[in-house]
Amino acid sequence: MQQHTPTRAEHHRGPIRLGERSLTVELPGGSACFHYIWLRDNSWSGEARVQQTGERKQYTAAIREDIAPIAAHFDPSEGLWIEWNDGHVATYSTAWLERHDYSEHARAARRHSPRLWDASLGSLPAFDHASVVGDTEGRLAYLDALRDYGAAIVRGVPSTDGEVERFAQSLGHVREVAFARVHDVRHDPAGYNVAHTPFELKPHTDLPSYSWPPSVQLLHFLVNQAEGGQSTLVDGWAVLEEMRQQHPEHFRVLVETPVPYQLFSETEDTQARAPMVQLDTEGRVRTFRYSNQLALPLDVPFEQVEPFYAAYRVLGSLIDSDRFKLAFKNTDGDLMTVHSHRVLHGRMPFEPGSGARHLQDVYMEWDDLMAHRRVLRGEHMPLSATAPALEATA
Ligand SMILES: [Fe+2]
Repeated sequence: MQQHTPTRAEHHRGPIRLGERSLTVELPGGSACFHYIWLRDNSWSGEARVQQTGERKQYTAAIREDIAPIAAHFDPSEGLWIEWNDGHVATYSTAWLERHDYSEHARAARRHSPRLWDASLGSLPAFDHASVVGDTEGRLAYLDALRDYGAAIVRGVPSTDGEVERFAQSLGHVREVAFARVHDVRHDPAGYNVAHTPFELKPHTDLPSYSWPPSVQLLHFLVNQAEGGQSTLVDGWAVLEEMRQQHPEHFRVLVETPVPYQLFSETEDTQARAPMVQLDTEGRVRTFRYSNQLALPLDVPFEQVEPFYAAYRVLGSLIDSDRFKLAFKNTDGDLMTVHSHRVLHGRMPFEPGSGARHLQDVYMEWDDLMAHRRVLRGEHMPLSATAPALEATA
């Protein structure tokens, strides 16, 4: 006699509705729908996880296609309990379900929206060095500003050699690239980059000549006494939003046209080829690379050349316009941090004979800064499906 194997729950209770391939529960914030395959895959119960690390132990591809509950109940104070048709029994806390609810409104509420800005911002968020290195609240304020504005200034950083590296290491890890770990920027007739001249530097991002350019740059002004040399910053994502709205065809060209870049010295030769604008899966800008000085000859089909230059002309004009460009003079001891896949930096020309000007800069990765932020906020412990309610955070 063939054994009866139910594929759908025959017993359920509580504010829960079982469908063919998903269930709906009434969470405190409203209805939420979860697929059976998703719930079974994300079980934390029994053998599903390496308990000491929270890593998935069960093999996702081995979950049966017709996975479904044979019994389930839900109580907002106790969570969701399911006996699955493969014999597994799992529980999911209400807090965990709320945190991972993937309905449209819940996903929208979790999404971080950066505060795009133009020159009307007036000045960047600024913080005292003592506060950023000295207490968690100060450090979080600085990291939050970076997350929102893509740039921030720390004032009163000691003007000592290598201080920018020590500061970076207090936040995460230095991203090493060719040329140097700590870059000295000052007038140098033998330098490998236009940064070592006294010329104007149009707003740009560094090292587009890497497939993954450094995503954070820290620039420490040890001394900035020369005439001129004002810093310029542009929120590249704000400019691109303008391009998307007002010049959608140009925006498309920037997303689709690969541009080759090169930065080299006597001993190094970095090269990469990528579109200036790269989007995430939801169409938001993820990476912006813009360096007038490092672009190599375009190498695309004939008919793509003029559309690219038409788009570039509009983009470059916006970037160099007073509308978007913030210009100000950093003083000795200022340390400027930029999310360098978003915010472009530059400087006005300076007079090298009029006074000393010496910067040191290092690169980091955005992921490490945001990891540090999550740790400081206490968000880094794995929130298991059975854990007690914890504050849901974006
Ligand atoms: Fe630069």
